[in-house]
Amino acid sequence: MTRLGIVIGSTRPGRRAEVVARWVHAAGQRHAAVVAGDATLEVIDLADHDLPLLDEPIPAIRGDYRHAHTRKWAATVGAFDGFVFVTPEYNHSFPAVLKNAIDFLYAEWNDKAAGFVSYGGLGGVRAVEHLRTTLAEVKVATVRAQVSLSKYTDVALFTDPGNWSPAPAQEAALHTLLDEVLAWSRALKTLRAPG
Ligand SMILES: Cc1cc2nc3c(=O)[nH]c(=O)nc-3n(C[C@H](O)[C@H](O)[C@H](O)COP(=O)(O)O)c2cc1C
Repeated sequence: MTRLGIVIGSTRPGRRAEVVARWVHAAGQRHAAVVAGDATLEVIDLADHDLPLLDEPIPAIRGDYRHAHTRKWAATVGAFDGFVFVTPEYNHSFPAVLKNAIDFLYAEWNDKAAGFVSYGGLGGVRAVEHLRTTLAEVKVATVRAQVSLSKYTDVALFTDPGNWSPAPAQEAALHTLLDEVLAWSRALKTLRAPG
């Protein structure tokens, strides 16, 4: 069984991220590996964790977490084999709340895989390029396949999110992304200590 977490990368009131993450979860349930019971997809909402700006006195690489909120976040991330990050583009990068959440931990990210579902004026692609380099530093392997939702092709996501539904091609792209994240998550599991 491979457990994937869908990380909601925005905590802004009225965020589109939640709508997109709900679609990723629903469309992901139709992926063959999930249907077969070989994989699960669960939402990880940063809003549920309410992390402060990084307040750990010791760098995460040492694994000496002093705060209960860090240990709770570590237990959440540590339980997954791979991730799908749902991210908007904020000023040509990904949201600060997501960077902060990544910075809190180290070992819990290591030797896992991730893919991206992004959105923005140009599909959020610049946010993903930054996210790939950040995740490389915590030893997350990021897959090539990507879903990009643009305000020119997915107009309703930005103007009327309650009535947004992605084009069928986006579900196919998401399934390709999940194929790659699942394959790499399974391969990388062999590098991690059991537990
Ligand atoms: C602080 C901020 C900066 C933004 N910068 C960009 C940007 O650089 N490029 C872009 O395409 N959209 C940008 N946007 C528009 C967002 O992509 C759009 O508002 C999106 O819905 C935000 O995601 P969210 O609703 O999940 O928070 C920005 C939005 C905010 C709030």
